[in-house]
Amino acid sequence: MASEENNNIDYEQGTVSAADLHDSVRRENALHPGGKGTVGVSVLVVSAFILILGGGQLFSTSNGFRDSIYVNNDYVPAARPSLGGDDGGGAEVAWIDDWMKDGKKVYNNCIACHQASGLGIPGQFPPLVGSEWVDGGTSRLGAILLHGINGPFKVGGQTYNQLMPAWNNLSDEKIAQVITYIRREFGTLPEGDEGVVTTEMIQAARDKFSGQAAPYTEAELLAIPADENLSGAKVDLQTGDPLP
Ligand code: HEC
Repeated sequence: MASEENNNIDYEQGTVSAADLHDSVRRENALHPGGKGTVGVSVLVVSAFILILGGGQLFSTSNGFRDSIYVNNDYVPAARPSLGGDDGGGAEVAWIDDWMKDGKKVYNNCIACHQASGLGIPGQFPPLVGSEWVDGGTSRLGAILLHGINGPFKVGGQTYNQLMPAWNNLSDEKIAQVITYIRREFGTLPEGDEGVVTTEMIQAARDKFSGQAAPYTEAELLAIPADENLSGAKVDLQTGDPLP
């Protein structure tokens, strides 16, 4: 305590003015209003250097912020789990499942009359379920789809007397798909018949029935043998490839 008193002795004795004393303090710490000091040039230089270095690093490693940096060039997705059954084909869909799916789409053209159920509308539109025309060979079906029918026309003992439109403006493939669909979905197929009709068979049908100018009458359709099939190779249901 004694030494402190000594330090302040001039002031206390009035030999140093308060203004003189503060002059030296002001000279050492030139404060800006608000108490903020100026930033030294060296700090600016160092900051700029860090920013330039950091920016350069970010630019060279970010790949322009594209998400492709997360995907490796030689990335191979893991095989999807099998949908049950044996593991042979992985998750591949059998050809016939695709063919039927497409056939169901084409069948949208038919549901106004034959209904989604294939049961038709009693007295107006005949059923495809239980129909001898659907259960028989594919020649009659090809003829019906390509050229249509002009009633009166008997199905399951009932007579219908309207017009079944011709669908020859559809592609061979679509006609093949829809016949496959109605046979497999609504039909009762002969032993050993998978119900499949191929594009090739409809091409053959176009030739075979090219002489037909108007919708068929019942008598004309009955003249085609009930169990006659369109010519063309049977196919492997899994791959869709022709069987030898
Ligand atoms: C505008 C109504 C209408 C549409 C649409 C229609 N049909 Fe028909 N279809 C009939 C009628 C009616 C008959 C019965 C014959 C007649 O009266 O002329 C018939 C008969 C049939 C027959 C033979 C008889 C039977 O019931 O098995 C088949 C097969 C058939 N249609 C399939 C189809 C398919 C496949 C489609 C779609 C691509 C289709 N029809 C679209 C009205 C229609």
